[in-house]
Amino acid sequence: MYIQRRLAVFPIGIAVNAGTGDKNIIDSDTSSQQQAIVFTHFNQMTAGNEMKMSYLHPSENTFTFDKADAFVAFASANGVAVHGHTLIWHSDYQVPNFMKNYSGDFSAMLKNHVKTIASHFSGKVVSWDVVNEALADSGGEKNGLRNSVFYQKMGEDYIDQAFINAREADPTADLFYNDYSIENGSEKTKNMLSLVDRLKSRGVPITGVGFQMHVLTNWPSVSVIEKAMKDVADRGLKVKITELDVRVNNQYDSSAPVYKSLTSEAAEKQKKRYREIVEAYLRAVPPTQRAGITVWGVWDADSWLNTPEHPDWPLLFDVNFQPKPALQGFADGLVGG
Ligand code: XIL
Repeated sequence: MYIQRRLAVFPIGIAVNAGTGDKNIIDSDTSSQQQAIVFTHFNQMTAGNEMKMSYLHPSENTFTFDKADAFVAFASANGVAVHGHTLIWHSDYQVPNFMKNYSGDFSAMLKNHVKTIASHFSGKVVSWDVVNEALADSGGEKNGLRNSVFYQKMGEDYIDQAFINAREADPTADLFYNDYSIENGSEKTKNMLSLVDRLKSRGVPITGVGFQMHVLTNWPSVSVIEKAMKDVADRGLKVKITELDVRVNNQYDSSAPVYKSLTSEAAEKQKKRYREIVEAYLRAVPPTQRAGITVWGVWDADSWLNTPEHPDWPLLFDVNFQPKPALQGFADGLVGG
């Protein structure tokens, strides 16, 4: 069973380690197992970390493209497209230090950041997460925006400018606004829809919305997820699931079962969940607006959500690189079977 090469006509992506570390996909101890999986099932990759702000632009006049270039060349040599992640992200460890206490013209500096990176990869990436996580989880500043350094310096206009500058630098890539917890029907979902409405009314060149989709087996409900994606699609925008993973443990609910290993019960819940999310995507998003579905990691041992304090098994392949029931669930969702 193959999820991409046979079953889908839209991109099926996977996040990988693109650097030089011990789990990188190009030349590490596990790269042959990773490559066998990726090149069988997926036709798009996202660098899990290496194309983030501080890695590409560590100081004002220094851009470091070596690792990302090697990754993009590796993808191209193997016939796999690349989704760029991400031009602007508030996350403290990813905002370059020089930006945090920048005393010059912040807008001009950020324009140089976006344009230099987007033009460097123009023609080499099919899409970008232009702005990642601009919305607060609750409350927030005006329009529910997160109080990031970008917001403090430029207000909402930093989002407009990021898209405008990315489009000037790359005339063809799809340009996404990307966030988490925008699939759950909360205030944040409403704020996301209002944000894209404002961007569109101002003529900002946004192509679509990326739903990170870090979800649990039973939350949010599939109908709520489907509605959020449909509300974006109804606005004529593309919809991309950019970082899909499904935890089997719910650390926020003390009455939920605590799995200490991936039992068959947990694996079956997860299989159903992958299937229903793929099905919801197909129902909610018309074919021409499907920018694809990307899973956030290759195998469970490498998931960002599998930690010593909270062991979990959120992905499609197990710690031994074997396919899990979740992979079958994903495939079943694609064929509607
Ligand atoms: C995560 C990576 O997977 C980790 O390796 C890293 O330590 C932290 O970032 N939302 C995003 C991703 O947009 O960039 C994050 O990736 C996961 C949450």
